[in-house]
Amino acid sequence: MIVLGLETSCDETAAAVVRDDRRILSNLVLSQLDEHRPFGGVVPEVAARAHLAYLPKLIERALGDAGIAASDLDGVAATAGPGLIGALLVGLTAGKALAYAAGKPFVAVNHLEAHALTARLTEGIAFPYLLLLVSGGHCQLVEVEGVGKNKLLGTTLDDAVGEAFDKAARLLGLAYPGGPAVEQAARSGDARRFALPRPMHGRSGADFSFAGLKTALRHAVAALPAPPDEQTRADLAASFQAAVADSLADRAGHALARFAATHQGIAPVLVLAGGVAANMTIRAALALRAEVHGAKLVAPPPALCTDNAAMIAWAGIERLQLGLVDGFDAPARPRWPLAGAAG
Ligand code: KG4
Ligand code: ZN
Repeated sequence: MIVLGLETSCDETAAAVVRDDRRILSNLVLSQLDEHRPFGGVVPEVAARAHLAYLPKLIERALGDAGIAASDLDGVAATAGPGLIGALLVGLTAGKALAYAAGKPFVAVNHLEAHALTARLTEGIAFPYLLLLVSGGHCQLVEVEGVGKNKLLGTTLDDAVGEAFDKAARLLGLAYPGGPAVEQAARSGDARRFALPRPMHGRSGADFSFAGLKTALRHAVAALPAPPDEQTRADLAASFQAAVADSLADRAGHALARFAATHQGIAPVLVLAGGVAANMTIRAALALRAEVHGAKLVAPPPALCTDNAAMIAWAGIERLQLGLVDGFDAPARPRWPLAGAAG
């Protein structure tokens, strides 16, 4: 089975071709960073127009790189949500049109589910597993029991973790997008110089919160006698990153304990997904915490953690294998939660 995947939910225009033996035949991602940088964030209308300008050529190249024609496809999958409505509509409509014209089944993919299933594409891991989804819009711990079978164990009470990175970067005068910039700056920083809070630490359950940490960082900057020099900025970035990593590890630890209790006899696996999973300090903290709980940490390569279309194609393959096909009336869904609350 060969499926074309399209992703246009935010500021990445992406097209990829993936085969059901887990081979990625092509995987193209066009970042719109340059378009949005002057605004310091993603502008929805700018994103939609850029998708419209880039996507047709990108689809052509994705098929060309894979060495196939649309007639060779077994299906077309496109992100239907969650995301920016105008941006989503571009990829969704293109996917439907292509599937209709080629006479192929169409799959409307949940972007979060695609992140959740990526470790099955990259590592071939089996259900069930515990997922930590950390991106610009999401911060969730989810029990993944199967395709479309997800149970929410914890979510953020305020900011998503990627959002917290982006805001921290802005506060420190670092480049957009913030996550990679903070990680880069933190490399030459001392994480012990500023004592920042570990939100939710030790509290029961697996919810997250980052608003207090962001405020603490702002106070730390304001308390400096002068605007931070480069070393101080690096120390602030490192201290912030360490607090986030500790907090994520603490919450994941709670969820792992629950997962172990409800899945006795199954070797626990903690899967990382979402753009923030590209962060090496966070990976290391979670690997340590997983080890404490006798669990294995599985983290896809960074390029497949951030937004891409290979994960959309793969989610399409998983759904098609179960006979799950969508109609051409499948709506774009700006809000589309992955899972309901766990009982
Ligand atoms: O999953 P993603 O590509 O897009 C969605 O939000 O769906 O995640 C983007 C987020 C941004 O907030 C970005 O700052 C963050 O992931 N990010 C990182 C790193 N790379 C990307 N955060 C921390 N460290 C990184 N290396
Ligand atoms: Zn994403």
